Amino acid sequence: MATTNTQRGFTSNLGAILAAAGGAVGLGNIWRFPYMLGQNGGGAFLLVYVFFVLLIGVPLMMTEFIIGRRSQSNVVGAYRKLSNGSKGWMLLGVFGIVAAFLIYAFYSVVAGWTLNYIVLSCSGGLAGKDPTAITTLFSDFTQGSFWPLLYQLLFLSLTATVITMGVQKGIEKVSKVLMPILFLLLLLMCVRSVTLDGAAEGLRFLFKPDFSKLNGTCILSALGQSFFSLSIGMGAMVTYGSYIRKQDKLFPTSLWIAGCDSLVAILAGIVIFPAVFAFGMNPASGPELVYIVLPNVFNSMPAGTLFAVIFFMLLGIAALTSTISLLEILVAFGVEELHWKRRTASFVSTLLVFVIGIFCTLSFGILKDFHIFSRTIFDLFDLITASYLMPIGALMMTIFLGWFFPKAEVRDELSNGGAIKAKAFELYYFVLRYLSPLALIIIIISGIIG
Ligand code: PFF
Repeated sequence: MATTNTQRGFTSNLGAILAAAGGAVGLGNIWRFPYMLGQNGGGAFLLVYVFFVLLIGVPLMMTEFIIGRRSQSNVVGAYRKLSNGSKGWMLLGVFGIVAAFLIYAFYSVVAGWTLNYIVLSCSGGLAGKDPTAITTLFSDFTQGSFWPLLYQLLFLSLTATVITMGVQKGIEKVSKVLMPILFLLLLLMCVRSVTLDGAAEGLRFLFKPDFSKLNGTCILSALGQSFFSLSIGMGAMVTYGSYIRKQDKLFPTSLWIAGCDSLVAILAGIVIFPAVFAFGMNPASGPELVYIVLPNVFNSMPAGTLFAVIFFMLLGIAALTSTISLLEILVAFGVEELHWKRRTASFVSTLLVFVIGIFCTLSFGILKDFHIFSRTIFDLFDLITASYLMPIGALMMTIFLGWFFPKAEVRDELSNGGAIKAKAFELYYFVLRYLSPLALIIIIISGIIG
């Protein structure tokens, strides 16, 4: 099929935006963001989060895109090429690969849960159950071994199938279909939620900041969440950046992606909190918020089964477009660096992730008392990646592009070889060189000191 695009990646700007927004929008927006916000005091967390997205998230996403598009490479190849073969900088790429493995391993556990909940809600298995029964259902399922592992494997296989179909026919096509469906389903859920009696209390919780609730942990969590949600700091956006066409504008593209991502997080909050408050549930219940609290909410509302099906489908779609971007990091590396076939790279990466993922799944069941640094394996992977690996990866990336890579080349990439003006270049460069590293250093140190 003839297209005007002769390069390796996406065929259009819209395709790039939807694929990268698909990578960004995920369980992080619909599962993690609401419970983080619930545990960290509501509206104030939202403000800090949006502030980080704009101040650090968007420039860092541009940074990853510049590195990816300039090098036309996977994350390891990107640093090798742009640093003229420096082993040290290549390690930064390897760091990204390790982070992708760890994230994919624990992420696929929760992604697998969504499959179980889609099946449960479609078959009426949640309907009519009292709160105790719903809690028992969740803990029996997650503490088991066979079913959660099977669903995890199914989700990993689904992702591998899409990835094997290729960048244009797999990632781009699937994102173009699934992302609009995701938005539609989400809007439908919002209408349902805000028209419930007592919804206003939930909206107040989400949007009215109470700054007395802000502390160091809150701020670090908001930063971690913004990295995790935008998929920044470990190479996902470097990989996707290498697929963006040379004529596409990187600044508006990044803004669109970050905008979609934050919008979905806020819409998820608008779905969840009014419903949680309307039915007197606890907004700070943590990771089980969407798996225990929401099924109870659905059971108490008219046409609840239908809304349960819609909700878990949209959660599954969000998870899938993200697992696709996680696997693509690994597969692009396997294909370009190790010269494997795409199919082999998908298979081997999926298998390895599953092997590590088994420990994450079992850390809810037979390994739940096995703690490292007083955390389960699952919690440890979540904490290490979102609060440490991603910020550290991002810091190294800003140092590379801001301090080691020639400024003229950064300008050249951002202005598409001089074809566009890139008016805010100096501002971007200032943020890249000074503001982002400084903010990242402060946050990483304060996280370590605790
Ligand atoms: N951004 C995804 C989410 O919010 O669910 C998680 C994620 C996907 C992180 C891909 C990193 C990544 F490379």
